[in-house]
Amino acid sequence: MDFQTLVKSRRSIRGYKIDPVPKALIDEVIEVAKGAPSSMNTQPWYVHVVTGEPLDRIRAGNTEKMMGGAKPQRDIPTREAYEGIHRQRQVDIAKQLFAVMGIERHNKEKRMDWVMRGFRQFDAPVSVVVCFDRNLLNNTIAHFDTGAMTYGLVLAAWSRGLGAVINGQGIMQSPVVREVAGIPDDQVILTCVALGWPDETFVANSVVSRRRPVENVTRFLGFDD
Ligand SMILES: Cc1cc2nc3c(=O)[nH]c(=O)nc-3n(C[C@H](O)[C@H](O)[C@H](O)COP(=O)(O)O)c2cc1C
Repeated sequence: MDFQTLVKSRRSIRGYKIDPVPKALIDEVIEVAKGAPSSMNTQPWYVHVVTGEPLDRIRAGNTEKMMGGAKPQRDIPTREAYEGIHRQRQVDIAKQLFAVMGIERHNKEKRMDWVMRGFRQFDAPVSVVVCFDRNLLNNTIAHFDTGAMTYGLVLAAWSRGLGAVINGQGIMQSPVVREVAGIPDDQVILTCVALGWPDETFVANSVVSRRRPVENVTRFLGFDD
């Protein structure tokens, strides 16, 4: 797959086959991902690849706490809610997903089901918990660097037929993830990536999210034309 096809064809995958993912393949994907650039080559990232019983315990603990009304416990500062144009884009993608999934606006039960799927990391067979060195927590460049590595991971997976969705929902209760996965205290949990073979029959997997045109995000200066 050429680079443009790879990037343009990738979508977030939220429905997976139960088939396991070979460890060697995940190793290959991480080998590619860690080629990301980083500030002064600091390479602040770590990944913890979880499957099977520990992943089920993470899903259960995360879901139980969230459904019990616990406040999200993230290691990084996050906004409570988006506003304005950011909120609008968030609503747009949710509408696209809910439309194909047949989740009507007022159907609280179906909406809750969808949210819970997120807390379970979409029942993916693998979760990659993405971390970085805690002593860089207040250096947002480390977040940038780790994000670059994470996108590389998702693309490397996609090029091998593996689907993924970067998701905050799966690590909303980060202390649960830390305890079950044995993540050391000197690492900050940034996000996680659900990973597995896409279930082609799961309609939300066909949703193509929208992007702004180049002219809306770009200014060119000093060009002749
Ligand atoms: C940092 C980050 C966190 C995300 N968290 C979630 C999440 O919790 N649940 C979810 O369904 N998607 C999550 N996503 C996926 C985005 O919704 C998705 O990337 C966006 O809508 C664009 O769609 P696409 O990935 O299919 O192009 C997250 C993506 C990123 C980069």
